[in-house]
Amino acid sequence: MSEEKPPVEHCKGVNGLEKVVLREVRGSSAEVYLYGGHVTSWKNDHGEELLFVSNKAIFKPPKAIRGGIPICFPQFSNLGNLEPHGFARNRIWSIDNDPPPFPTTTSNRAYVDLILKPSEEDFKIWPHRYEFRLRVILGPGGDLMLISRIRNTNTDGKPFSFTFAYHTYFSVSDISEVRVEGLETLDYLDNLQDRARFTEQGDAIVFESEFDKVYLSTPAKIAIIDHEKKRTFVLRKEGLPDAVVWNPWDKKAKAMTDFGDDEYKYMVCVEAAAIEKPITLKPGEEWKGRLELSAVPSSYFSGQLDPQRVLQG
Ligand code: BG6
Repeated sequence: MSEEKPPVEHCKGVNGLEKVVLREVRGSSAEVYLYGGHVTSWKNDHGEELLFVSNKAIFKPPKAIRGGIPICFPQFSNLGNLEPHGFARNRIWSIDNDPPPFPTTTSNRAYVDLILKPSEEDFKIWPHRYEFRLRVILGPGGDLMLISRIRNTNTDGKPFSFTFAYHTYFSVSDISEVRVEGLETLDYLDNLQDRARFTEQGDAIVFESEFDKVYLSTPAKIAIIDHEKKRTFVLRKEGLPDAVVWNPWDKKAKAMTDFGDDEYKYMVCVEAAAIEKPITLKPGEEWKGRLELSAVPSSYFSGQLDPQRVLQG
């Protein structure tokens, strides 16, 4: 029996930038801009937006879109002479019409394949040849999956190293009602204290002020519990040992030109990443990093919010 392929629409988004809309039969959807290879929308089957995008986001190169899922490559953060969080998030990606086979089955799923290769200008700032393939998949239940494959295509025999993050902005009802589970007792680098290393104490993470930490060697699953919305986001990741948790809070929010003064209340970034130990690829080698996001009603857990069950399941 032949299966009907879910619709994938190519159209223009804000400022005429090209985007791809993935739709799933039960009503969920996702949008991916070629600018940045950037997922800017992920909606459940009730049409509710699950990602945060700032009302002041600037959809115009060279500014990366503030919200959604920026891709940080070839560096996370602001080290050396590369631009902060690398350049992948503000380059125009192409549709990859003929990607090498992916192991993940996509037979009845809506998906799109994008590719980024260095331009001659990029080569001057980061002197390496690579192919970065990104597949964005919307699953039948509305789950969103991103698979990145980065291959070293240098012809000079040289390896390269990079750090990476899926800088995901989740939409939340009120940051003071949010808890992140799965990172307690882990070591982290505190970006607000010159990346000093500490060990997380106590219970789940809650938010009362600016927060900017890189958790190290994290488990494959992390949960974000939004008490007010009665919704739990579950992140599942592979190839991405670290996890950044960020909320700018009020002062930094005011300092960002593309972010509303109060918007910090409605977002939290939990970013599946590879930061502490950069990934090194020799010519011909390929790295893969996978992120899977699902959003489930918290009431699903027998009326009682039990994040441990989310993390164990
Ligand atoms: C986070 C970093 O991942 O991204 C923060 O940990 C940073 O330190 C934030 O402020 C936003 O970065 P940008 O470059 O998108 O403003």
